Amino acid sequence: MAADVPLDVPPSAVTAAGLGDAWSQAAEADARDPLAGRRERFRLADGLIYLDGNSLGALQHAVVDRLRLVVEDEWGTGLIRSWNDADWVGMPQRVAARIAPLVGADPHEIAVTDSTSTNLFKALGAAWMLQRDHLDGGERRIVLTDDANFPTDRYVAEGLAGLTGQLQVEVVAPDALVEHLDERVAVLLVTEIDYRSGRRHDAAALTARAHEVGALTVWDLSHSVGVLDVDLGAWEADLAVGCSYKYLSGGPGAPAFLYAAQRLHASLANPLAGWFGHAAPFAFDPTYTPAADATRFTNGTPPVLSLAALETALEAFSGHDIGQVHTKAMALTERFITLADAALDGVEVLTPREAHRRGAQVSLRHPQAYAVTQALIEHEVIGDHRPPDVVRFGFAPLYVRHVDVVHAVARFAEVLRTAAWDHPRFHARRTVT
Ligand SMILES: Cc1ncc(COP(=O)(O)O)c(C=O)c1O
Repeated sequence: MAADVPLDVPPSAVTAAGLGDAWSQAAEADARDPLAGRRERFRLADGLIYLDGNSLGALQHAVVDRLRLVVEDEWGTGLIRSWNDADWVGMPQRVAARIAPLVGADPHEIAVTDSTSTNLFKALGAAWMLQRDHLDGGERRIVLTDDANFPTDRYVAEGLAGLTGQLQVEVVAPDALVEHLDERVAVLLVTEIDYRSGRRHDAAALTARAHEVGALTVWDLSHSVGVLDVDLGAWEADLAVGCSYKYLSGGPGAPAFLYAAQRLHASLANPLAGWFGHAAPFAFDPTYTPAADATRFTNGTPPVLSLAALETALEAFSGHDIGQVHTKAMALTERFITLADAALDGVEVLTPREAHRRGAQVSLRHPQAYAVTQALIEHEVIGDHRPPDVVRFGFAPLYVRHVDVVHAVARFAEVLRTAAWDHPRFHARRTVT
């Protein structure tokens, strides 16, 4: 394992790549960074440059301690008493209250539950039922989305369309969404940040246009939450979903969230209604009465271990405005793009260069993207690959430093210069890339 990256002396890989000046500028930026102290909360190995927080956020020391407590004391000793004594039963609402300020929502507008895919089904189903109830002449049957959307969003929409027998999914180019938004559209389903390129949709403008034609919106914020200054209230969004295992660092498979705007609560029904979404689950009422707020979008018993990890992970955001996180994300990505242009031969930056048009990731195109990604991982720069030819890096501002950006580009330049990727072991496909 390489030694941890020192902040005062540029390592030899950096000087060899001619990035010595870039190193000192980055070290200065780190010295001024108001978020710099957050990094020590995370368990990151010395020398490792972790640029995959957009896929699986890093672990925090406090999460390890919390899980030990919940498993050993609360579950081991407290047993079923812990639903009350440790307030396990209030966990989804407590976690919702921590996610809410990150997305411009009130806590009662957020349900923390299930996977993003399942929440997409519930959000789309609820939007569709609402539209269906107001259909006059049988029009308005389209779920409109774009062809850059994450596959699960399309799979879920198509599954729902098959179930209803009435909805149809229309898929257009990202730039063509506006021109296809018309009175035929029941629901606009868009992921704010393109998982592959990092391109950002103008969510406020698209939401406003959707409302002009009477469509409801379902936003997928999986690559936005915890890193961009999302303001669902200001966008006047209707419904949204998002992952918590990426920038929120909730852990692998951590429960996702669903946002439902308060003005719609009374009219939105959960198509997967279950007892935990009931107004009084422990009344064991044979008649279903939904909870008054977004809690109606939960269904079964909350996953206590995963929620405990997520609840503690979210402490890393306390005391800082999400705007500061967003600002640092843009500075890190800008630094990476500038250095990639200067030092990486044979790669093309796919991510938009205007800060307001991108998320916290930078995607590079290279014909051997898979092997390059694997070689970089061996050089302790962890990013990931998206087919066919994208190397993708995510910049989680709570633990990525400006010097890490310089170091990553220097190691990348070295991998390209030496063609280190050109070895059979880097071409063997692994299941998760
Ligand atoms: C944009 C987007 N939506 C949804 C998902 C899937 O979320 P889940 O696995 O929680 O269903 C992902 C996973 O990476 C994603 O990137």
